[in-house]
Amino acid sequence: MAKRNIVITGGAGFIGSHVVRLFVNKYPEYNIINLDKLTYAGNLANLKDVEDKPNYKFVKMDICDFEAFYQLMQDEQIDGIIHLAAESHVDRSIKDPFTFARTNVMGTLSLLQAAKLYWESLPEGYDGKRFYHISTDEVYGALTMNHPEGIEPPFKTVASSEGHKAYGDDFFYETTKYNPHSPYSAAKASSDHFVRAYHDTYGMPTIVTNCSNNYGPYQFPEKLIPLFINNIRNRKPLPVYGKGENVRDWLYVEDHARAIDLIFHEGKIAETYNIGGFNEWKNIDLIKVMIKTVDRILGNPEGHSLDLITYVTDRLGHDARYAIDSTKLQKELGWEPSLQFEEGIEKTVRWYLDNQEWMDNITSGDYEKYYEEMYKGR
Ligand code: NAD
Ligand code: DAU
Repeated sequence: MAKRNIVITGGAGFIGSHVVRLFVNKYPEYNIINLDKLTYAGNLANLKDVEDKPNYKFVKMDICDFEAFYQLMQDEQIDGIIHLAAESHVDRSIKDPFTFARTNVMGTLSLLQAAKLYWESLPEGYDGKRFYHISTDEVYGALTMNHPEGIEPPFKTVASSEGHKAYGDDFFYETTKYNPHSPYSAAKASSDHFVRAYHDTYGMPTIVTNCSNNYGPYQFPEKLIPLFINNIRNRKPLPVYGKGENVRDWLYVEDHARAIDLIFHEGKIAETYNIGGFNEWKNIDLIKVMIKTVDRILGNPEGHSLDLITYVTDRLGHDARYAIDSTKLQKELGWEPSLQFEEGIEKTVRWYLDNQEWMDNITSGDYEKYYEEMYKGR
């Protein structure tokens, strides 16, 4: 395997930390640089098991800092960029859209322009280079729930849950027109367009992937699954938005990381790939599975925590249904999810219950203080 110098942005976040771990362990000959600003969502404790590896380096940097990133490209002779850094939480984007435009749009543009200037200055130009942008299914908008009771799905994967249903007869394809609704997805859509524009205009070797909802260890506990597991454990209310009827399509985070590895190495330049496991769930059904699992593991009687369900005001502009068709990735590159959903939820619940210290460090804010001190002045 040839030596490569790769920057992974957002590596201290949820998905990024799984991608960094996979690359550091799988490619000892690569130089892996985790570039992260360490916002509230960045937590280096997610990477404790790889931080001393010789092929890993952490750089604290804002992706909007064009000069610093251009310098890093030169110093480290970067030939691959896997870009995950973003503001990622829809509810925050509703309250503070400017931060989302700054990071997700301007930050991505800043990386693209620095990469362009550096790669175009080399004798070999764009040869052997790659700018891989990680995006979301939310850019496609919302699908209809024209089968609210569920129908036999057109396709299944290992990830599809037992008794798997589809709640509509349409899916997001790579060709689906962009129609983002939230400030988060509008900013992600804009960044996707910039990435494609850098290919079409300058010939930069880019790839974009759009993935469905991820779940698993190290997810920040503002997102549905870790928030609810923690609240069930602590007997706190579970705030279900609206009627809990919205549908999301869930994929285990390590399966996403494996797809990213495959696409980074074997994906076709200028292509888009959808990533998902054909695993649709109504929020309320998923919440009941979490309650059942946590109660069983903690030794509570069945149904003990159902009284925590609290219906609250709906999220503004709450998208009804997401469902990804990832057939292209499965057929062209042979990717398959590895974990069945019920196994994934069991594993995830156990991880959060076994790693209470990780959770407590976040909920108390201690993780930020620790790393602020550690990286002061760098
Ligand atoms: P996350 O919020 O857990 O992590 C984001 C990381 O980016 C954090 O470490 C944060 O410190 C860093 N970051 C934020 N702003 C930065 C800046 N200006 N400069 C440098 N670093 C910055 O997010 P996540 O859930 O891991 O999502 C990662 C990527 O995957 C995002 O681009 C997101 O849009 C995309 N995505 C997420 C999901 C999902 O279900 N979580 C699904 C599909 C796509
Ligand atoms: O689809 C991919 C997207 O999935 C990613 O691009 C985003 O970065 C990621 O945050 C996620 O977005 P969602 O908005 O779908 O995830 P979240 O965990 O915030 O919410 C999942 C569903 O649960 C959604 O329908 C809203 C609902 N919800 C969420 C929270 C936090 C609740 O009912 N109550 C809650 O407290």
